[in-house]
Amino acid sequence: MATPLHPHSQTGLAAGTRTIHPVWLRFTHWLNALAVSIMITSGWRIYNASPLYDFRFAAGMTLGGWLGGALQWHFAGMWLLTANGLFYLAMNLGSGRLIRRFFPLSLRAFAIDLTAALRGRLSHADLRHYNAVQRLAYLFAMFDIAVLVLSGLVLWKSVQFATLRTLLGGYDAARHIHFIAMALLSAFIVVHVLMVALVPRTLAAMIRGR
Ligand code: HEM
Repeated sequence: MATPLHPHSQTGLAAGTRTIHPVWLRFTHWLNALAVSIMITSGWRIYNASPLYDFRFAAGMTLGGWLGGALQWHFAGMWLLTANGLFYLAMNLGSGRLIRRFFPLSLRAFAIDLTAALRGRLSHADLRHYNAVQRLAYLFAMFDIAVLVLSGLVLWKSVQFATLRTLLGGYDAARHIHFIAMALLSAFIVVHVLMVALVPRTLAAMIRGR
């Protein structure tokens, strides 16, 4: 006799063994976390050499040891961040997952889910489904990383990327944009890691896939 399917299963496997995050997604997520950590901490060291604002980052929080070392880390990390990000986007778009997982998305759904989350009433029973707050936060992270890469290109090769530089409002504006995008991504990471700590099952799924 055929084994009955689990009522919520898409694969016919029992609950708990269903694939939540495919291998390519987990692989790119953790590589991205590594690349972003390298970029942010080496970026802080580069910033310290010529601060844009009235403060410096504590040297102990930075990567590279000195300006030259930090630049080496930043340029190495930039290839990993960009190649990995493009692969993630191509897989996400090509498989139709981006549309399935992150849309529809409305301001109303976001307001409802945010209110429920703040009251501690947002269900996290089905890990295959992102709520509207997660959808917006993750789409924001993707957009913000794209802004970081584009403004970074202007700072790196200002002459070669002249059109992009003009679009961003000039070299100095690109520096501010790059810094603000870094600060927003850092804020995302703090909240993201806190949320994961509150629902540790999500971490297991992002490591094992199931
Ligand atoms: C450092 C930079 C990081 C960025 C930019 C980032 C970004 C993201 C994004 C965009 C997603 C959604 C991916 C998708 O479904 O396509 C995601 C999911 C996730 N991330 Fe991160 N992440 C970072 C670091 C981390 C770290 C350090 C942890 C672990 C502590 C973590 C744990 C997770 C988990 C568990 C999920 C799945 C959430 C769920 O199923 O509810 N991430 N992350």
